[in-house]
Amino acid sequence: MVFLDTKMSSNESSSAESDDGDDAEMNVRMVPLFNREESMFFLDLVGGEFKINNCSIFIEDSVNQHQHDTGNRTWDGSIVLCKALEKNYSMDDKSGSSLFSFGLKNLNVLELGSGTGLVSIAASYLGAANSYGTDLKYCLPLLKHNIHLNRNNLVNKQIDAMELDWFWFDERDDNNTLIIQQAVNNTKTNNNNNNNENQEKRLLRDKILDISIDVIVAADVVWQEPLLIPFLSTVSILLRNKTNVETDGSATTPQKKCILLYTDRYENLKSKLIENLEEFHLKYYFHDYDKAFHEAFRDESMSIVTIYA
Ligand SMILES: C[S@@+](CC[C@H](N)C(=O)[O-])C[C@H]1O[C@@H](n2cnc3c(N)ncnc32)[C@H](O)[C@@H]1O
Repeated sequence: MVFLDTKMSSNESSSAESDDGDDAEMNVRMVPLFNREESMFFLDLVGGEFKINNCSIFIEDSVNQHQHDTGNRTWDGSIVLCKALEKNYSMDDKSGSSLFSFGLKNLNVLELGSGTGLVSIAASYLGAANSYGTDLKYCLPLLKHNIHLNRNNLVNKQIDAMELDWFWFDERDDNNTLIIQQAVNNTKTNNNNNNNENQEKRLLRDKILDISIDVIVAADVVWQEPLLIPFLSTVSILLRNKTNVETDGSATTPQKKCILLYTDRYENLKSKLIENLEEFHLKYYFHDYDKAFHEAFRDESMSIVTIYA
């Protein structure tokens, strides 16, 4: 059953390497994902074989000049996370803040490293009020294309594709020391400490910080050590960002959390993840395997972790 492809691209550590403007958008070519040898699930994603709440999701793959970049195809982590979220869909969570709940109903959901967009689309199917798929710029044409493919099932749903590079939120100083703010109230004005940061990136980053987020979701995005700190910086800032807290300090929504589908790809990667979560003063909970995962969509190399600030 286990047939995970561990050979991921090593050349996509930041948008600097994957960002090449409009040409990439022009050259996108969509191809069906079918009987993918690398996947443990032989699902015809383009034909709508994958269902959430009995509703087909249609997902195409892409071949463009970044064909080796990982966002051009759907990884098993996304499929598994969607089914885990679906399994938890109907679970009663009276407080709305339970660490154990993956419920997304009426919440604002932002996905990090969306790739082809499966989880962002599934989040809409699972009742998210707003769903934001984010990734590096090269992924946006395919992300938008897949949202469009599912438009008939997304009527009355708010779903957007946005550029977000974790390196925009990497808050290490010149000595490589982490700068961790316990509460990020004025991130936009305080954190412009990188004078070289260009105006466009700053505007895009501010746009993300203006979004009121309840739940961050991410599947299979922890696989390269150099990406771990930028990714966790992003999670930390977004979880601590105060956009959905009233001025009197009372929270208007459940405690923000990040639901991460982690795949153990390298020795010591999990301990690195835990070490870094602690360095960021983030709380985390690794869910019980049997309780969290859908019984037909799981693998022992995978864990679901809830992270909160
Ligand atoms: C293994 S893929 C997983 C994609 C998708 N979540 C899935 O499971 O199908 C990793 C994703 O992380 C994205 N990524 C890599 N570096 C990134 C960065 N610096 N900022 C944002 N996303 C990044 C890639 O573009 C890719 O979509």
